[in-house]
Amino acid sequence: MNILIIGSGGREHTLAWKIDQSPLCNQIFVAPGNSGTAQIATNIAVKVNDFEAIKTIVISNDINMVIVGPEDPLVNGIHDFFISDNDLKHVSVIGPQKAAAKLEGSKAFAKQFMSRHDIPTAKYKSFDVNNLDEGYLFLETLMPPYVLKADGLAAGKGVLILHDLNEAKAELKAMLVDAKFGQASTKVVIEEFLDGIELSCFVLTDGKSYKILPMAKDYKRIGEGDTGLNTGGMGAISPVPFVDNDFLNKIETQIVIPTINGLKKDKLPYKGFVFIGLIKVGDQPKVIEYNVRLGDPETEVVLPRLKTDLLVLFNSLRLETLGGMTIEVDDRAAATVMLVSGGYPESYQKEKVITGLDNVVNSIPFHAGAKFDSNNNIVSSGGRVVAITSYGKSYQKAIEKSYQSISKIQFEGMNYRKDIGFDL
Ligand code: AMP
Ligand code: GLY
Repeated sequence: MNILIIGSGGREHTLAWKIDQSPLCNQIFVAPGNSGTAQIATNIAVKVNDFEAIKTIVISNDINMVIVGPEDPLVNGIHDFFISDNDLKHVSVIGPQKAAAKLEGSKAFAKQFMSRHDIPTAKYKSFDVNNLDEGYLFLETLMPPYVLKADGLAAGKGVLILHDLNEAKAELKAMLVDAKFGQASTKVVIEEFLDGIELSCFVLTDGKSYKILPMAKDYKRIGEGDTGLNTGGMGAISPVPFVDNDFLNKIETQIVIPTINGLKKDKLPYKGFVFIGLIKVGDQPKVIEYNVRLGDPETEVVLPRLKTDLLVLFNSLRLETLGGMTIEVDDRAAATVMLVSGGYPESYQKEKVITGLDNVVNSIPFHAGAKFDSNNNIVSSGGRVVAITSYGKSYQKAIEKSYQSISKIQFEGMNYRKDIGFDL
């Protein structure tokens, strides 16, 4: 099979790395890709939302399957674009259709879905500019901290957690009236604050059946001890030590099964990954959010632990035979530590030469915001630059190996968290 992966992060490098191991795989293309994917696949400089250009790539390279990494093209309907085009409809697309991608594209839609299907989540109400005053009143009924969420996609920045009531009211007005997050905040979800520890659960579905992948936990804040600004993710581990059989069983029966059944009942066409952002409150799992793709950097620890051929699983989505598959998981733990540009997640410099990657032998460097420059050096091209993944008998051992590998890598301004796993 010839495969096209859409995206350019550590997640997409990991997908390419995993698929490259499949005997079913002939050629891999990545659009646009990075310096990591360039070493195992053919990068093509095309934007992830340029569907016509993607069509040209698919036809000229005889692509059989398109794997969509990021949410944007899914929310914009790339799967529907393929199905409705006579030249493309034979191609498998991994990722939900537009109607189902709304689970990530609209927080209000996701909350309605959960309440319709009795899926445990924070209590909420949604507001627009016409009921701002009701929004203020609703805030007054809640205990701090206050959680305000822009309804639409806001590049991971649309959630505000505020401790002061007046500040929460001012931010609500800024979102609804002053379009703080542009189009994304024309609607705002206000919800109850949930106090607990978060984890990421990835479920693969063919729309009929499902398979749960190994659990992961990611570290979103820039600073040690989970302090400072939110980032795309600074590191991850898998498995998650506090997920025992009892808790896993709750996740499956109370959340995963109702989610898959809900998709069926609501006729939301879904062949791809459901990423359920969970929080453990007491001994109860609750949904913080749905995403319609794999997480990054969780992918960098989840796929390395998956022994099953990913292309075999993906092929079963089109045939709707996923239910008959078994998933084999590596007993070892995996950890990844993200190397980021100095200054990230605020402004940062790019084009810094990265040295030492070739000296890493006990870990796998998954490239994220990194590219080859005109002198064939690997240079930084984004905030999150390289994720260093390692295996270990325990997650502690895996983290230790990643830190040893990191000591061999350098670029100007390089930063990373030295405490991944600190809270477990
Ligand atoms: P989201 O974009 O919905 O994942 O929200 C971003 C982050 O905000 C989450 O990873 C949580 O850390 C936090 N968050 C979102 N909703 C809540 C909530 N109801 N209670 C506590 N924290 C939340
Ligand atoms: N690591 C969280 C995400 O991919 O959204």
